[in-house]
Amino acid sequence: MMDGAPLPPPNPDLLHDALAGLTAPKKSLPPKWLYDARGSALFEAITDLPEYDLTRTETAILRAEAGRLARLVPPGGALVEFGSGASTKTRTLLDAGPHLGAYVPVDISEAFLAETATALRRDYPHLSIHPVAADFTAPVALPAELADRSKVGFFPGSTIGNLDPAIAVRLLAHARGWPDVRAFVLGIDLVKDEAAMVAAYDDAAGVTAAFIANILVRLNAEAAGEFDPATFAYRATWNVEAARIDMELVSRRAQTIRLADHEIPFEAGEPIHVSASRKYTSDSVAALVCDAGWHLDKMLTDPMDRFAVAILAPEV
Ligand code: SAH
Ligand code: AVI
Repeated sequence: MMDGAPLPPPNPDLLHDALAGLTAPKKSLPPKWLYDARGSALFEAITDLPEYDLTRTETAILRAEAGRLARLVPPGGALVEFGSGASTKTRTLLDAGPHLGAYVPVDISEAFLAETATALRRDYPHLSIHPVAADFTAPVALPAELADRSKVGFFPGSTIGNLDPAIAVRLLAHARGWPDVRAFVLGIDLVKDEAAMVAAYDDAAGVTAAFIANILVRLNAEAAGEFDPATFAYRATWNVEAARIDMELVSRRAQTIRLADHEIPFEAGEPIHVSASRKYTSDSVAALVCDAGWHLDKMLTDPMDRFAVAILAPEV
């Protein structure tokens, strides 16, 4: 190999976002960078944790209402899913809707998305599958093949709660403008007992801590970072004013960390805000939906009102 300038880090977008967040007065990192193949696998492990009831509760609602939800899609129509991950919940709708013509999973975790699409093509050979590897915090262009199909949006998991409220409204409003959009199915976690909400993000086995610390692992691997993840403690707190769980990595000591050709100073106890998970009430769901130009047609909830699947209609 020739001597010369050091190679640029392999992921300049990650480095750019990290420098912007870590040089701000309150340090933060964007949660979209949690999800590489390892991050997606760690999230799947979270869904099985005893403390994390979101997935089990939403899955039960989707199973109970699968027929009604699948019928929102007209014959030959397309289901467009944001943050599809392993598309496990989607299978419930696909099984109940053999009349669906196309499925468009949108996800930032590219390798995981490709693997998922391969498995779905094998299991649903009649369905036209068009994976889109994209960041949904910016408007996502739909594949041209969808032009003539009716469309239904699907955003399960309460992933909308990980977005800043303005971005969440923009995503929903963008979907409201799709040609021939028929409905949008939105999974939303509801405000409940504080101890239960915090435990869901601070599990005894430490899987959530590893998931959040994965962002430091990525900075080291992809942005020439020199973080020692062991020098950061994970913290999950309920922020009552903002109705959200805040997930932070707290520097255990004063330290200066190299990131590419920058030095990032940390005080002892200084946090990096990595992710927020907003929780909703029926009023705040209605406000969100209305701000985005949709009509709230129905809220399907579990018997304990822990989670809601909202059906949005384009018109009253
Ligand atoms: N829908 C699944 C997975 C939720 S995990 C479920 O309900 O269990 C959140 C998913 O959103 C992950 O697959 C992650 O890769 C994806 N994601 C997170 N931020 C994203 C972004 N900004 N753009 C696109 N996908 C994103
Ligand atoms: C994907 N999303 C809805 C998860 C949540 O519950 O906010 C991400 C997560 N972060 C930590 N645990 C789970």
